[in-house]
Amino acid sequence: MLNHSGIAVVIGASQGIGLAMVKDLLARPQVKRVYAASRHAMLSVPLGTLTEEYGDRLQVLSLDSTQESDIASLANEVRERDQRLHWLINCAGLLHDSARNIRPEKRLEQIDMAQLEAIFRINTFAPILLAKHFLALLNHDQPACFASISARVGSISDNHLGGWYSYRASKAAQNQFIKTFAIEAERRAPNLTCLALHPGTTDTGLSKPFQKNVPQEKLFSTTFVAERLLDIVFSRPAADSGKFLAWDNSEITW
Ligand SMILES: NC(=O)c1ccc[n+]([C@@H]2O[C@H](COP(=O)([O-])OP(=O)(O)OC[C@H]3O[C@@H](n4cnc5c(N)ncnc54)[C@H](OP(=O)(O)O)[C@@H]3O)[C@@H](O)[C@H]2O)c1
Repeated sequence: MLNHSGIAVVIGASQGIGLAMVKDLLARPQVKRVYAASRHAMLSVPLGTLTEEYGDRLQVLSLDSTQESDIASLANEVRERDQRLHWLINCAGLLHDSARNIRPEKRLEQIDMAQLEAIFRINTFAPILLAKHFLALLNHDQPACFASISARVGSISDNHLGGWYSYRASKAAQNQFIKTFAIEAERRAPNLTCLALHPGTTDTGLSKPFQKNVPQEKLFSTTFVAERLLDIVFSRPAADSGKFLAWDNSEITW
């Protein structure tokens, strides 16, 4: 159980689930400091307001998690200021982006190399590069957790509808990375829990275009989801490392 005081990093913190995670973490007295990073984090008005409220307990940083050098710089910054890390939560992800003409595919003809690359860079490659650069900081004598937000649609056994090729496959591949990382971490960082998490359909810019047919009670607020996922992050021991867990603590099949 992670009831000691500790340091948190949230990637993808400028809006959506990541921003709600930052707010929730800052409200927990055992969290000594939160590093909140994303490409436009420095421009985020809510993060600016939180900085005024929490001062030095919140560090807001620019980071593009598809750039390995940005990840390495953030790891260095955490190392210099705090020496160790207890919770890394990766909330950055991509499903659609009208500016880059990226949208979930409904049929094979819509498969596009540039879209595949963009989606895999953020949803798949970034999480494992975060693991590479933060393992040393997460490896110490206290419990720690590396959690990356995946999606139930990344479950291969749960795929009954088809479609969304690049997003589904990027999350399935992320899950394989997290599982493989968990196996290596068991040996190299025995106090570390590595998790893939599913938030449920959450009211954010990412889900906005697809909310039409979602019943009201199944569309969660970011505040609700952040609290549920953080309760998992704070409570799951290293023995649960390598699991794919939903917001309600249930295990999702690969
Ligand atoms: N919302 C849902 O219903 C739902 C359901 C299942 C799974 N998920 C997953 O949950 C996670 C969070 O989704 P969300 O709904 O909160 O999305 P969102 O509202 O679109 O937020 C995404 C966050 O990721 C950041 N980001 C995007 N590209 C980045 C990059 N290259 N480097 C660093 N940060 C980057 C964005 O900030 P900047 O623009 O400042 O970089 C933003 O803060 C994603 O992995 C998503 O796939 C969401």
